[in-house]
This record gives sequence, C-alpha cells and structure tokens, in this order.
Amino acid sequence: MSEQFRMYDIIDKKKRGEALNREEIAYFIRGYVSGEIPDYQASALLMAICFMGMTENETFYLTEEMVNSGKVMDLSAVNGLKLDKHSTGGVGDKTSLVLGPMIAAVNLKMPKASGRGLGHTGGTLDKLESIPGFRVTLSEQEFIDQVNSINLAIVGQSAELAPADKKLYALRDATCTVDSIPLIASSIMSKKLADGSDIQLLDVKFGQGAFMKTIQDARHLAHTMISIGRKAGKVTCAELTSMDQPLGYEIGNINEVIEAVDTLRGKGPKDLLDLCLHSGSILLKLANAAPSLEVAERRLRQAIDSGDAYRSFVSMVRNQGGDVRYIEDTSLFPTARYSYEVKSIADGYVAEMNTYDLGIQAMRLGAGRQTATDTIDHTAGISLKKKVGDRVRRDEVLAVLHSERSGIADIGREVLADFTIRGEKPEVPPLIAETIYN
Ligand code: URA
Repeated sequence: MSEQFRMYDIIDKKKRGEALNREEIAYFIRGYVSGEIPDYQASALLMAICFMGMTENETFYLTEEMVNSGKVMDLSAVNGLKLDKHSTGGVGDKTSLVLGPMIAAVNLKMPKASGRGLGHTGGTLDKLESIPGFRVTLSEQEFIDQVNSINLAIVGQSAELAPADKKLYALRDATCTVDSIPLIASSIMSKKLADGSDIQLLDVKFGQGAFMKTIQDARHLAHTMISIGRKAGKVTCAELTSMDQPLGYEIGNINEVIEAVDTLRGKGPKDLLDLCLHSGSILLKLANAAPSLEVAERRLRQAIDSGDAYRSFVSMVRNQGGDVRYIEDTSLFPTARYSYEVKSIADGYVAEMNTYDLGIQAMRLGAGRQTATDTIDHTAGISLKKKVGDRVRRDEVLAVLHSERSGIADIGREVLADFTIRGEKPEVPPLIAETIYN
C-alpha cells in the first residue's frame, strides 16, 4: 500500500468537510478491498461522508474506483445499442418484466443484469425464479448469444462487477451509512458503468415506499447519477416516479409475474403500463429509434396490442430454461397454503397507503428477505384490492394476504393499519413526476 497516505488523515480531511482527491479515494478503495484498511476506519470515513457530503468530482472518482475494483462487462459482441433501465427500488415494481419484452419486441436490445430484493423492496431475479426452471445465471457467451437472437436476457449481476461496492454496501448496511446521496449514487452507478450497456435510464423512486422520501432528494440523487454517467461518457437519463403507493396491485413474486404477464397481454393495471410506456419511449428516443416520444409510445403500445411483447417474454423464459406452460396458463402456478382477507373497518376513500410497511409485511409473509441469506417463499405476498383514491365500504376487502406461514392474522392487522381511509376523495398524485435528460 502507498506510503504517501494515511487513512487517519483522509478521515480527518473529510471530517473537516474538505474534498478528497482522486489519489486519496483510490488509496481508500484499494486498501479497503485488499483488507489493509480495517472496517473501523472505513466506517469512520463513510460516516464523515454522510455528514459532510462529496463534490461531483469526488463522487465520480469514488464510482470509478469501485468500477475498477472488478470486471467491466464486454458486450461489444452484441449487435446494436444496448439499453438498460434501473430502478432505485420500490414495492410491487415489476417494470423490468414488462419493459424488457416491449423493448425486445420493437427490435432493440436489452441485456439486463438485475438484483435481488432486500428489506421492503422486491427484486427482479426473485420474481423470475418463481417460474419453474428459469435460470438467472448464464455464461457470458450464452448471455450475448441470447441477446443477439431474441434481443433480451435478464440475469443476476455478476459477483465480479464492482466488488468494492459489495464490501462497502455490507458495511454501510451495518453502520447506518446507506442514506447518503453520494454513496447511493456511486454504489448504483459503479454497477451500471460496469454492466456494458450504452444507454441508461434511471427510475429514481421517491415517496413513502422509496429510499428517497422527498422529490427534492430524488432529484438530487438523479442529478448526481447523471453527472457520473456524463463524466464516464455514458448516455444517462432519469425519471422521477412516485412510490407513495405500490406499483400495480400485486406485491410478492409469483403474483407479480402473473401481473406482468397480464400486462403483456394487454390486461394489466394502468399505472404499470403507463410507467413502462414512459420508460420505453425515453429509451427509444435516446437510441434514436423514434423521432419523438409520441411515436415511440405508439410503437410500444402496438408491441403490446399485437402480442409481440408477450411473445418476447415467452421467448426469454424458454431460452433461460423456464417452463413456458406456466406463462401460457398462469393458473398452473402454485398458490400459498394460507390466505387472509383484510377488510375495511370504515366507509370512505383510500387516502394514503403506507407503502414502506406494505413491503415489510410482504417480506414477513415470506415474499422477501430480512437479511441477504434468507430464503423466499415465491407463493407469498399481498394482492391489493384497493388503491389511493378508491371508494371503500365497511367490510369491503382492501387486500388479500398469501403465505405458507400460519397465523397471519397479526400481519393482517398491520396491513389494515397501512390503509388510511378518509371521508373525502383525495387527489391522486401523479406517478411520473419528472424526466431529467443528460
Ligand atoms: N441500491 C444500491 O445499489 N446501492 C445503494 O446504495 C442503494 C440502493
């Protein structure tokens, strides 16, 4: 390790609010990954970053060092532009399962590396693994061949991408240093810069069920990530979307796959379809595949109406070893042993939903993980029957819980408390708040 720096001085510099230079950041990341810098010094620096922040340049150097800590995917053998969309994490967010096939159906390429769910947020990989036989691990060659032949593949993020982020994220999780905009931005972008895509759309969630509770923080995070993308020479753009209520009606795994399949068949919830059309239109426009957002949206709608997007999903499932009979007839999916109806105790309108807690209760039912090593029950989850703005009568069902675990009535009481019912009809806030271009 370089004799030029001492970790103590770097912590002290950040504690005093000064900007670290590229060499100091490189010293920290390399030393931490090699094990020469101990957790207690890394934790102290992370906490100082939480309090004092980082400049755009520092955040970029940190991202670059994390990219350089591992492998950068070489997808140059994929013919054509490689599009990607990344969500900062939400509840009921099955967008990738719908958007990927829509993009593939209009003959653009989406080689996608996705993550697993943790805490209140779900993960695309867990959802796909609820399809019997579906393989989320492909060799690099299989991945490239599949994208070249059917335009789409969704796999797990390789452990070789940005290993510094993995080590740092575990430390941040244990030291209460996750919620820092430069740390979140560098963590997300280190994986996005390493994944080999050309065009990146970031879906930055804000609101009660998101990491970023306010639109101001979401905007700040979006600008920080776009600045990193620009400095790295990658086309990066962001949309700010609300997580004040779950996306669609289903929270879980099998039930989310079924909702995605319904959407691809033109029978899905409007909010999910609207978000996929919005995200897809931006990607088509950035790829110069459509002259305007309106034309792009028309083409994507046509991909749904014609059944092409649904067929792209079926092709992906088949190519990745999944049993397509479950997609063709979703009633084949197993159902949970127990279900429980959560009923309203008042007349009125759903005014608010505690989206974060709904994600937590879905996790407690078995649909998610409290820690990274927990296993998932793919049949578990919550089916919402009412959303914000809906009229409800006393005793009407608000949600149905599904679980292999008995005694879920106590979770039912928590879910009931997640619905705020008021006498007057509320304004339903828009799902898509802003788009921020590079
Ligand atoms: N997602 C990430 O990948 N990193 C963060 O720090 C937060 C969300």
